[in-house]
Amino acid sequence: MVSKRASDINPSATLAIDTKAKQLKKEGKDVVIFGAGEPDFNTPGNIKQAAKKAIEDNITRYTPVAGIPALREAIANKFKLVNNINYEPSEVIVSCGAKHTLYNIAMALLNKGDEAILPVPYWVSFEEMIKLAEANVIFCSTDKNFKLTAKDVEEKTTKKTKMLILNSPNNPSGAIVEQQEIKKIAKLAVENNFYVVSDEVYEYFVYNNKKRVSIASLNDEIKNLTITVNSVSKTYAMTGWRIGYCGANKELIKAMENFQGHSTGNASNIAQMAALEALSGPQDSVKKMVSAFDERRRFMHKRLNEINNISCIEPEGAFYAFADIAKTGMKSMEFSSKLLDEALVAVVPGKAFGSDNHIRLSYAASMQEIENGMDRIEKWVKRK
Ligand SMILES: Cc1ncc(COP(=O)(O)O)c(C=O)c1O
Repeated sequence: MVSKRASDINPSATLAIDTKAKQLKKEGKDVVIFGAGEPDFNTPGNIKQAAKKAIEDNITRYTPVAGIPALREAIANKFKLVNNINYEPSEVIVSCGAKHTLYNIAMALLNKGDEAILPVPYWVSFEEMIKLAEANVIFCSTDKNFKLTAKDVEEKTTKKTKMLILNSPNNPSGAIVEQQEIKKIAKLAVENNFYVVSDEVYEYFVYNNKKRVSIASLNDEIKNLTITVNSVSKTYAMTGWRIGYCGANKELIKAMENFQGHSTGNASNIAQMAALEALSGPQDSVKKMVSAFDERRRFMHKRLNEINNISCIEPEGAFYAFADIAKTGMKSMEFSSKLLDEALVAVVPGKAFGSDNHIRLSYAASMQEIENGMDRIEKWVKRK
């Protein structure tokens, strides 16, 4: 019999639909998949080359648990240049994807009974990670555009609040927290002495010249309470390489290192060499990818709003549209599963992100697929 811990985990709904869609595709069905949580671009050539060279040069052994020194330095440099945060290389740890980084943070920070504030809608794994650390998930609402405000956080703050999850741009809504709210949230965190886990994995996927700010850049007090999480997965189309990282105060980094040292050990040496090239080599691939996503974003957003009984706020960032389907009279699971069975379009039910009136559509798909998928959804909704 499996442990209570294991049996309490909710299976990932995002993966369930994806598995079914891929199965249908394998059976020869013409399925349009809007479920992907990853860019449809290939990893840029210079990054692949760096990995090949690492293998040829026999850079294939264990590394220090927290990552190779050159990569930690490149990450500290990136934090300085891109985010205006001064982390020393010793205040940085490299893990096997941001997912692993976040898991380490939950394990290193949360005790049984602690409260972790999780704004809704949220990326599926946050809730499970908090629960695995035996802490309590405190859901927190956002405004009508899914933007988190300091007032929302304040309402949920208690003496037991240990951390706030701040994910901007957000998965699944694409919302970006306004700068003045970030400042107020920082003040609230300092006054109430809680940590802010700032998940910035979509930081480059920002449209319409919208400005965003990294909370740790505001002042030393909030920097000391913030764990700034990032990854090469989305930015460089490297989801399968599994390299994530964070910056935080030395005490926290040490705790995470101890935890990681007895679980996974270091992230793949070869992938670390590739990440080093990603962060320090040419950056033009990022711009190209983001501009392609912007075109798809505008198209999908427009088409969604033209469909009867469906509406969608304009996503400001990331690569997802989070559409409101309440007026169709269906909840998200029913909508998604029927849409896949009857119209061969895979979307993710919003229930997985804490909102049963929505579905998430990833626009990490070709324009042709998006057009085709939108046509099918439009026709299918009309028939309902
Ligand atoms: C908000 C958010 N954080 C973290 C991750 C994990 O990314 P990684 O591939 O670096 O583990 C994802 C992936 O979907 C995400 O959406």
